[in-house]
Amino acid sequence: MSVKVVGVVGSGIMGSGVAEVAAVAGFEVVLRSRSQAGADSMLASLEKSLNRQVEKGRMEEAVAADVRGRVRAVTALDELSTCDLVIESIVEDLAAKKHLFSELDRVCPPETILATNTSTLPVVEMAMETGRPERVCGVHFFNPAPAMALVEIVPAITTSDDTLRDARQFVEACGKTAVTVRDQAGFVVNALLFPYLNNAVKLLDSGVASRDDIDAAMKGGCNFPMGPLELLDLVGLDTSLAILQALYAEFSDPNFAPAPVLRRMVSAERLGRKSGAGFYDYPRR
Ligand SMILES: NC(=O)c1ccc[n+]([C@@H]2O[C@H](COP(=O)([O-])OP(=O)(O)OC[C@H]3O[C@@H](n4cnc5c(N)ncnc54)[C@H](O)[C@@H]3O)[C@@H](O)[C@H]2O)c1
Repeated sequence: MSVKVVGVVGSGIMGSGVAEVAAVAGFEVVLRSRSQAGADSMLASLEKSLNRQVEKGRMEEAVAADVRGRVRAVTALDELSTCDLVIESIVEDLAAKKHLFSELDRVCPPETILATNTSTLPVVEMAMETGRPERVCGVHFFNPAPAMALVEIVPAITTSDDTLRDARQFVEACGKTAVTVRDQAGFVVNALLFPYLNNAVKLLDSGVASRDDIDAAMKGGCNFPMGPLELLDLVGLDTSLAILQALYAEFSDPNFAPAPVLRRMVSAERLGRKSGAGFYDYPRR
């Protein structure tokens, strides 16, 4: 396998998680954030996560030090020119992602694989912004990336077999289970999960049960580790809204039409854990 250096773009929840997974698996990682503050916050989240694992006895301090040594945070996009694989994990917005892919195509050598961690957006549209649509695919991690076993690998109709093989080898080298899914909104997991999450918001909004009772019902009744409203807060309500909008745009199925209150909460910047408040309140990070 040719991937040795992995670039991660985007300093949100998923960017730092994916960077941690790749660094723990032994890859050199270049983390790119638009601002120095973003780059610093990615390194701080990585540090916090590694320290937690050392404290819990899950990782030796020497191993954590090696992991830290493999991660470099940068702000200039052209620092990604040394990467064999770049995974973008910026905001779930197609225009922003398409713009980023055209920039990545400019700075990365032609053989570099350009991957997206999008939850729902069409991979082919990002691929077609580049001069290498055969070297572009989706590599969809789950939240929190270090803990979750699955990665959906999403070949666009332009993706070559070699790219698909390299992406799968990378995912497996990260210790994850890979499933291959066609480039269709929601892939497998979110196409099945989001109608459920959306319907939980509708139940709450229509007063059928309280927030705590909805979450308790699904934990106790289905043995789910989190209730739907807790999970929406973890994912981020802005990301969740974008996912539902992309699903609705693709299928025109009313089940995917975002619950109106979700849009209002996003307008009010109640985004879930990352903003300190969503369906629940959280101490500020
Ligand atoms: N949150 C989840 O549970 C989850 C799970 C799997 C995949 N994803 C996907 O991962 C990606 C990132 O999600 P997240 O939850 O980390 O989001 P986030 O809101 O935590 O972070 C988004 C990041 O994108 C940056 N950003 C915003 N606009 C940008 C632009 N125009 N150019 C470059 N960077 C920009 C922001 O500064 C921020 O660092 C999305 O595509 C999302 O669908 C999210």
